[in-house]
Amino acid sequence: MTKPLTIALPKGRVLRAVAPLFAGVGVAPELLLSDGRSLVREISSEQLRFLLLKPDDVPTYVEYGAADLGVCGRDVLMERPCDVYQPVDLGVGRCRMVVAGIVGKPWPTGVPRVATKYPRCTTEHFARRGVQAEIICLQGSVELGPLVGLADLIVDLVETGATLKQNGLEEREEIARISSMLIANRAAYKLAQERVRPIVEALRASVP
Ligand code: PRP
Repeated sequence: MTKPLTIALPKGRVLRAVAPLFAGVGVAPELLLSDGRSLVREISSEQLRFLLLKPDDVPTYVEYGAADLGVCGRDVLMERPCDVYQPVDLGVGRCRMVVAGIVGKPWPTGVPRVATKYPRCTTEHFARRGVQAEIICLQGSVELGPLVGLADLIVDLVETGATLKQNGLEEREEIARISSMLIANRAAYKLAQERVRPIVEALRASVP
């Protein structure tokens, strides 16, 4: 019996946008979206297996070959570069990485404190602008930082802008445009071409 082709997907809101793209390879979205705690979803007749992971972990599974293919945001790849192919921009999960601050508050004098889940991207962005910044690493709800005096600014993702607005924050600078990328393990992409390429091509054809 051959090893099933394994695809790592991010749990959460991006999965709802990504699941319909897999209809093109014969995978019913319900298989991926149905409730339940099972982290492995399998179609044994197709020798296909999906792993549902924390978004930040998808590149790790693909880079080490525990998954052949994966889907992850460009933000994840920017923050932690890894040795994978990125054959398709899936065009879903679109958002932007921005610098934001309290509405109307002047740009901080001196070294700004910047709260973020993206320390690398933030450091690089401020360095490119020639601005020294103190980076404060948070795991989520970053918008709270400036409201309670933890930070002057934040670097975070903005999709609709509702979270910024509801917390009295405004965008100051755009750092990058983000969308979900199909990524591929380098060896699998070369050695399992007859199994991997049709899936890559079907997903490319499904891009909205
Ligand atoms: C993301 C992001 C923002 C929010 C932006 O957070 O970090 O907080 O969505 O979306 P909006 O512009 O449509 O309001 P997520 O919900 O993933 O949770 P987190 O804050 O814990 O990262």
